[in-house]
Amino acid sequence: MAAKSFKYVIVGGGVSAGYAAREFAKQGVKPGELAIISKEAVAPYERPALSKAYLFPESPARLPGFHVCVGSGGERLLPEWYKEKGIELILSTEIVKADLAAKTLISAAGETFNYQILIIATGSSVIRLTDFGVQGADAKNIYYLREIDDADKLIEAIKAKKNGKVVIVGGGYIGLELSAVMKINNLDVSMVYPEPWCMPRLFTAGIAAFYEGFYKNKGIEIIKGTVAVGFTADSNGEVKEVKLKDGRVLKADIVVVGVGGRPLTTLFKGQVEEEKGGIKTDAFFKTSIPNVYAVGDVATFPLKLYKELRRVEHVDHSRKSAEQAVKAIKASEEGKTTEEYDYLPFFYSRSFDLSWQFYGDNVGDTVIFGDNNPESPKPKFGSYWIKDGKVFGAFLEGGTPEENKAIAKVARVQPPVQNLDVLSKEGLSFACKI
Ligand code: FDA
Ligand code: NAD
Repeated sequence: MAAKSFKYVIVGGGVSAGYAAREFAKQGVKPGELAIISKEAVAPYERPALSKAYLFPESPARLPGFHVCVGSGGERLLPEWYKEKGIELILSTEIVKADLAAKTLISAAGETFNYQILIIATGSSVIRLTDFGVQGADAKNIYYLREIDDADKLIEAIKAKKNGKVVIVGGGYIGLELSAVMKINNLDVSMVYPEPWCMPRLFTAGIAAFYEGFYKNKGIEIIKGTVAVGFTADSNGEVKEVKLKDGRVLKADIVVVGVGGRPLTTLFKGQVEEEKGGIKTDAFFKTSIPNVYAVGDVATFPLKLYKELRRVEHVDHSRKSAEQAVKAIKASEEGKTTEEYDYLPFFYSRSFDLSWQFYGDNVGDTVIFGDNNPESPKPKFGSYWIKDGKVFGAFLEGGTPEENKAIAKVARVQPPVQNLDVLSKEGLSFACKI
């Protein structure tokens, strides 16, 4: 097979790849110069839809409805768009070998791709219970969610097990979003996680108490402080029970596991500098190897605001890092420079009719404000994180677009705070006056 050569290759066809393609088109790219190589069979799409509207029983989101860049209010990039721009979408193609010294990539089918400039945008893969030898974890109807194929399998299972019993393993993003959408599908849902409260990566006990209360009111059973240690299956090999470490046994027709992600860096191990589990980059997403960039979930980059290297597994950063890398590539070709990446971390989630946003860093002391009663008809509450006498992070459930903008500004400006009780009483009005 003859090798295919491109000036620019993006390996991975997810969120970052789509936003990078748009930026290349904006900056100017000639037909045939850019290729996106993706394991998935479809053009880049907004991954967050998979754990939300894609799984709704009524009017579910479907492609081409959520191709990038609709997620940030931009124009949808349909497969035709890539064709028009002369950007080659090489789909259903997994790269299994990368040689950064030779500047080549080799696919599972044995094709060779040469590049001058590479952007690594391989994202994350899920951590599986089989990875740590949980007994019976290879039974049928135990699902993970990362790509559209995974979501399609889950939809088939929801249809096949109408009104059945679902056990959700994990209390993070996937756990909270999937238990909600499973309940909306009229399934009987239990969640199991080891920590004392859900989403401990971000939530304080006070924030978590609201969501746990809200979920309980929706009829979701929450089992904390234990983990799944085994599964039993029926004679068809389909999961039947989940065995917990505390000795309890839960019935299950479907199990969904969300116990974290792992950045997909294996292809490049030993060839490029790594840090904090990701590929180390500078403020332009340049790696330790000339002409190789890394963006999105895989990049460990300098977070200027906090003067430290971080990896961020969220969609806003995947979009912005991709745009930054392309701007830097184009600028360096013209002998110019671009500004350093100066990112304000932004995470969000939606489930049922709830919607929260978080900006900044969740470090230091916290205060909670507003109406966080899960029984309220329209709950609205938030939290601030305070370190060294300044606000570092802000969280808001149920905010309007203007209020969300206000908490983003607080996290960016880091205003001083004298008294935490006063801050708690002022609540959202503190952010709105900054
Ligand atoms: P992304 O995972 O989007 O893309 C990687 C691509 O590379 C995939 O297409 C993959 O197949 C491909 N690939 C990997 N290895 C390859 C190889 N060897 N050869 C070829 N192709 C390869 N964030 C947020 O802020 N709010 C939210 O609501 C959500 N919701 C959400 C839901 C679900 C279900 C998931 C899984 C994730 C989220 N996220 C999120 C996280 C967010 O989607 C994530 O941070 C970005 O998609 C990361 O973008 P990347 O481009 O880095 O990876
Ligand atoms: P996560 O890191 O958010 O949560 C993992 C959770 O797994 C932990 O909180 C813990 O409760 C649980 N856990 C760990 N070991 C366990 C065990 N042995 N048994 C039971 N529970 C265990 O990861 P995730 O929810 O799997 O999400 C995967 C990826 O997708 C992440 O990168 C995440 O950022 C991304 N994602 C983001 C969003 C969003 O931003 N709204 C939504 C969905 C997915």
